[in-house]
Amino acid sequence: MSSDLRLGSTAEVLELLLGFRFEPTRKGEVEAAVRERMSRRGMAGLEDYARLLAEPEQRAIEARCLADLTTINETYFLREPQHHEIFLELVRAPSMQEPARQPLQVLSLGCSTGEEPYSIAMTLREAGFDPQRARVHAVDASPTVIARAERGCYSDWSLRNVSESQRARYFVRSRAGNALCEDIKAYVRFEVRNALEEDDSFWKSRRFDFVFCRNVLIYFTPQAAREVVRRCAQVLAPEGYLFLGHSETGHASRDFQVQQARGAFFFKRGSAASSTPARTTLPRERRPVTAPRRVAARGASRAAAAAHVLEASRSESLLSPRFWRLWQEKQLSQVAAELVALPQTPELCLLRAALLTQQGQLDEARSLCLHLLSEEPTLAAAHQLLGMAREHVGDLRAASQHYRRAAALDPDFALAILRAGILARRLGEPNEARRLLREAVRLMPYQSERTLLLFGGGFSADALLSLGRSELLFCGGSQ
Ligand SMILES: C[S@@+](CC[C@H](N)C(=O)[O-])C[C@H]1O[C@@H](n2cnc3c(N)ncnc32)[C@H](O)[C@@H]1O
Repeated sequence: MSSDLRLGSTAEVLELLLGFRFEPTRKGEVEAAVRERMSRRGMAGLEDYARLLAEPEQRAIEARCLADLTTINETYFLREPQHHEIFLELVRAPSMQEPARQPLQVLSLGCSTGEEPYSIAMTLREAGFDPQRARVHAVDASPTVIARAERGCYSDWSLRNVSESQRARYFVRSRAGNALCEDIKAYVRFEVRNALEEDDSFWKSRRFDFVFCRNVLIYFTPQAAREVVRRCAQVLAPEGYLFLGHSETGHASRDFQVQQARGAFFFKRGSAASSTPARTTLPRERRPVTAPRRVAARGASRAAAAAHVLEASRSESLLSPRFWRLWQEKQLSQVAAELVALPQTPELCLLRAALLTQQGQLDEARSLCLHLLSEEPTLAAAHQLLGMAREHVGDLRAASQHYRRAAALDPDFALAILRAGILARRLGEPNEARRLLREAVRLMPYQSERTLLLFGGGFSADALLSLGRSELLFCGGSQ
């Protein structure tokens, strides 16, 4: 690392050390963490701290401490259960049983407090592997979570996906929680390791048959995510498999072939050329000629392209007519299969988020939208999806703010204005509700078919129009 390292802001420290990109809402917390480290190390300012971080050993120490202070460690047993079912089928295949392949090696990258690697161990156990024939290496940048993982004692909440019979087999209940049995612990070795720290002897070892790197990349900058996926490819044996979180599948590179089973994706080490769908031109959707295109008239800003997602964006040409037909027919797992092999443009990530929302994976959709907004704060459609996710959990105030932001970014976005109007009425703001609902009713006939398909919650323009009208009457308004 060069000794003239420059840091413009505290956020850059985290980007440099751990690859993170933070949601704007976490700015204060992140800044406080970096300032705390600087003061503990007696650094007067960022320039001094940059000098310290230029030394590899110091940099590794700071990365560990900052990982402890800033990482999000949410996890639970058998998260994204389809992955564990697929893993069970894969390890049961005859090729995995060959003595030459033993012991099977699994890497859990970003293992947090241990639920993921221990779930993998439980699955290995169920597939008939003992700890001599299969091993799990679990790494995380945060020493605190690794220490908790090694203890192996969990709350009921953490076991919410674990069946009664598995609880009885693998856990001993006590007042302190659910202690994992030693038989399962014996499969797993933990290590504090930063996925961004160079170490060729580890990353280029090609020794793992499986890598689980789930719900980690979502917090990374695009460059850091690319680098970590490259390392996953290098650490895998030929024909090895990679599992990414549901909202991260778009990060897989051309080093991998996309595989699909049980409505989920996973990736096989190899050339991806054969799995890339043909790229055809999408016919533009028709709009009424009288549509009020105020935003477009101002110069087709990014916000407008975002609300109507693909119009006027280069990503449009990557999607085939079949893609839209599948979406209209609600064949969502096939839509996901088409999307997974496409690049990570903001517009296509928004489509992924809209798809996750329709599949009911609201946490994943929310994470993806927050990530997108941290890169591109004017994406109206991302605010719309965040509004839907907040409304789903009953946080009407936050939902209302997101809808209003979406409407402010794209004043033609009738769906956002309608939701904002409905929530204004429910939150006791009748004047605002009337204003918004009148505007929504005026604009709804012009809302494009595609926008309705992606953000209309399964309702037609007519149904949404009558909803807007009845809401308006309900709060004492007329058109
Ligand atoms: C949200 S948890 C996901 C846990 C688990 N993989 C799952 O899907 O349930 C993300 C974990 O990634 C870890 N992490 C973040 N950045 C990392 C990095 N640069 N190197 C290693 N681990 C990292 C965090 O400390 C955190 O424990």
